[in-house]
Amino acid sequence: MTNTSSSPGIIRCKAAVVWKSGEPLKVEEIEVDPPKSYEIRIKMLCASMCHTDILCCKGLPVPLFPRIPGHEGVGMIESVGDKVTNLNKGDTVMPLYLGECGECLNCSSGKTNLCHKYPISLTGLLRDGTSRISINGERIYHHFSCSTWSEYVVIEACYTYKVDPRVSLPHASFLCCGFTTGFGAAFREITLEKGSAVAVIGLGAVGLGAAKGAQMQGAGKIIGIDINDLKEEKGKAFGITDFINPKSSGKSVSDLIKDATGGLGVDFCFECTGVPDLLNEAVDGSKVGLGTTVFIGAGLKTSGELKYIPLLCGRTVKGSIYGGVRPRSDLPKIVENCINKEFNLDELITHEVSLDEINKGFEYMKHPKSVKVVIKF
Ligand SMILES: NC(=O)c1ccc[n+]([C@@H]2O[C@H](COP(=O)([O-])OP(=O)(O)OC[C@H]3O[C@@H](n4cnc5c(N)ncnc54)[C@H](O)[C@@H]3O)[C@@H](O)[C@H]2O)c1
Ligand SMILES: [Zn+2]
Ligand SMILES: [Zn+2]
Repeated sequence: MTNTSSSPGIIRCKAAVVWKSGEPLKVEEIEVDPPKSYEIRIKMLCASMCHTDILCCKGLPVPLFPRIPGHEGVGMIESVGDKVTNLNKGDTVMPLYLGECGECLNCSSGKTNLCHKYPISLTGLLRDGTSRISINGERIYHHFSCSTWSEYVVIEACYTYKVDPRVSLPHASFLCCGFTTGFGAAFREITLEKGSAVAVIGLGAVGLGAAKGAQMQGAGKIIGIDINDLKEEKGKAFGITDFINPKSSGKSVSDLIKDATGGLGVDFCFECTGVPDLLNEAVDGSKVGLGTTVFIGAGLKTSGELKYIPLLCGRTVKGSIYGGVRPRSDLPKIVENCINKEFNLDELITHEVSLDEINKGFEYMKHPKSVKVVIKF
């Protein structure tokens, strides 16, 4: 990496670029503009891979290419725009894909994290409609507001979280999406009562977070469901009380959940795989009249449709982005939980790659032992 001039000029550095949907990434030299007034430029120190990144390289949420993927990471501020008052050069920050203005209809409601002023970017551009990144003068798209798989990123200050340096870099990276999404959903998307029965379908970082969040709130039974037997042990480290591998039974997931709960189903079900056929299974596995299902898993396609009758039978379904976690109102508590070692995020780290080895990272994600691939800069 070479800095062409003293900051805040353009920086030339390396980034992982996806040129076309589904193609392997290429590590390229890019140019990163200086931050505009309300923006900061971050030197990335660590990033990680979320299952959603696989989908993002295939065009989720919108097929804009070339783009720099990555939405988990942490770095140190290299320069700040002239109107940024709450952050300074040298601060450690996490890029986030949504902000919290605290004033819009949704923020004022206290019920959702989907801020109208600082929403998830679906344009591949920053909020002023432009990009700060290019290759040989050709503009390339950002990914959400983050694009963390780059040595330097420019991001609006309102889409960042200044993190206590006591949080280790990989842990801070995981808190940007995967783990926090599941963990937060157990607090923010449902009202869990002591002794509640919970099912978590899919024990990746998201599902493990949901299991831990449910456990910390006193859930009784926490059933982890995964087609990978190696997830039983991981699940136990994050609070599951029961493990079911549906592959070995020949029964449907909803029937297996009912079998494990005296025929009634669970109070709360978290769908954390993004496998379309499991949406109805998740709903069906929740209690008639009382059950709530939270859809967290994401996919590029859906199959069939949500079945009417199970829903009419008094069940609730809720979709969730980032577990309903509000960056300003909720993240500080979760970071405190992390500092106090109320969960052990080291358990999630299974692989490490350099930015140059990014495609190897995707290979590692397919490994049965894989939970989180960390990218070291
Ligand atoms: N809504 C959000 O804000 C949000 C945030 C992060 C991730 N996600 C999505 O959540 C999902 C989970 O993300 P992750 O990073 O934990 O993924 P992951 O790939 O690490 O984990 C998914 C787990 O599901 C299991 N699985 C796959 N198919 C299954 C099946 N048919 N039955 C049971 N288990 C099955 C896998 O074995 C794996 O353990 C993905 O779809 C991801 O895109 C959504
Ligand atoms: Zn808002
Ligand atoms: Zn993610």
